[in-house]
Amino acid sequence: MARHLITSALPYINGIKHLGNMVGSMLPADVYSRYLRQRGHDVLYICATDEHGTPAELAAKERGLPVDEFCAQAHDAQKAVYDGFALAFDYFGRSSSAENRDITQHFARRLNENGFIEERAIRQVYSPADGRFLPDRYVEGTCPHCGYDKARGDQCENCTRVLDPTDLINPRSAISGSTDLEVRDTKHLFLLQSKLQHEVEEWVARHEDDWPQLASSIARKWLNEGLHDRAITRDLDWGVPVPADTWPELAAEGKVFYVWFDAPIEYIGATKEWADQDPENRDWKSWWYDVDTDVRYTEFMAKDNVPFHTVMFPATELGVREPWKKVDYVKAFNWLTYYGGKFSTSQKRGVFTDQALDILPADYWRYFLIANAPESDDSSFTWEHFTATVNKDLADTLGNFVNRVLSFSRKRFGDDVPAGGAPGEAEAKLGEEIAKLLAEYESHMESLQFRKAAAALRALWSAGNSYLEEKAPWLEIKTDKDGAALTLRTAMNLIHLYAVVSEPFIPATSAAMRGAFALTDDTATWVTADEAKSLAAVPAGTPFTVPPVLFAKLTEEDLATYKERFGGEEG
Ligand code: 2FM
Ligand code: ZN
Repeated sequence: MARHLITSALPYINGIKHLGNMVGSMLPADVYSRYLRQRGHDVLYICATDEHGTPAELAAKERGLPVDEFCAQAHDAQKAVYDGFALAFDYFGRSSSAENRDITQHFARRLNENGFIEERAIRQVYSPADGRFLPDRYVEGTCPHCGYDKARGDQCENCTRVLDPTDLINPRSAISGSTDLEVRDTKHLFLLQSKLQHEVEEWVARHEDDWPQLASSIARKWLNEGLHDRAITRDLDWGVPVPADTWPELAAEGKVFYVWFDAPIEYIGATKEWADQDPENRDWKSWWYDVDTDVRYTEFMAKDNVPFHTVMFPATELGVREPWKKVDYVKAFNWLTYYGGKFSTSQKRGVFTDQALDILPADYWRYFLIANAPESDDSSFTWEHFTATVNKDLADTLGNFVNRVLSFSRKRFGDDVPAGGAPGEAEAKLGEEIAKLLAEYESHMESLQFRKAAAALRALWSAGNSYLEEKAPWLEIKTDKDGAALTLRTAMNLIHLYAVVSEPFIPATSAAMRGAFALTDDTATWVTADEAKSLAAVPAGTPFTVPPVLFAKLTEEDLATYKERFGGEEG
């Protein structure tokens, strides 16, 4: 048994996320956590809303709410969706917590003591009409690279280039629209990442061979370009305040830390939030502090977050000069596209997670998304592909198998699992096949290859169908009642095995499958390939019930409705 710390990139507070966001961070982290828990490991899966920065302030303004109130509501709204997706976080925190404030301020003080923070005067956009500086997204204007006229001060959404507000042509305030802007001097804290370049390089070199190529190549690219000193404070009302004991002048001016400084620290902050709920039994430090080899730490994120997690946050952790746990494995994802184009929160293109749950239960989405996770490349969501996958894999291969076996057995043998004769050649062959596929499934899960794991799971389901077709108990029963009973008992054992091993992907359906059998041990404890081979976990005589249809088949009409509502090819 090992200790696994798992985090997924913190979703911004500014709105409900789309499916692309879900598949590149929280969902695979949940699948992996569930799998490890089933295998008996000690798992702590932590996530939180990322609540600071200009996106939060702007979204609150749009809703006409004070930022703190907006964040509290938006946090609950996101949490409700994640509950709907059955994401089994150990804790889902908030980066605006007191815990994160304290740890962030502690990190800043330590970095300062160690000579990695410097106060510098910089020139920043100031809006007299708004009476304030306008950092990041508070300025909009024309991108100097591509001419897009709605570029934001931190980045151009059109050409994705990173910008500084002073780069924009024809800048205007995102608050008031005022174009009467000036550039003024103001002081900010800079993190001297350039001084940490060497150490980060050494650290990456020691780890990158274990990381997937997507993560290591991005880390390398950033290191090769050289680490630049970065401003880590902003003139905003909302954020972790610069501590007055260390920087009285900046604190008096109301400066707060930049969102990307405090957000990764919230992985630690949220763990402390978790512990603070039950301090007698939970020890946050035992997951984070001086635990280099006791804990394995895996992070999940989309590729745009990789530089922050492989280079910048490690630089911060190294500069603190305290033994904080650093990431062991970075699971990075490419993009899920919507018909080949961008899912976009701001342009409301694609399917949002709350809308998805309005249409169908979580397991449909969980399975489809993980089976098509953008691991080695971008992958495209289309309604055609979604409905075809649901129908083929979930409704036909799994759902129909379960229903057919249980209904037929009840009709012919009553409400208990029938006995039948001793297993024969077909059962031995099936057992070997199941053991082989289960071993494959495990090895893909261990190496976090989710698409391959989904393919192995699907193959396990298919093996049941082939066995059933081969034995054809509906014919067998006419000449060999015992033989038919054996076939059904074996198939019911497959159903129980599917219930256990499908749990990481489709937890609600797994519970329904397990619940069909009145067993005393109804936990989803893992079954090893060797145990699975004998297909004997559900003994003859076990009472069972037939669950309602597990997955509804989606019709042409459903498909047309989805495309009508969300847009298809043209988006
Ligand atoms: O890109 C994003 O959605 C960020 N909110 C991710 C933050 S991850 C972490 F470091 F907090
Ligand atoms: Zn541009």
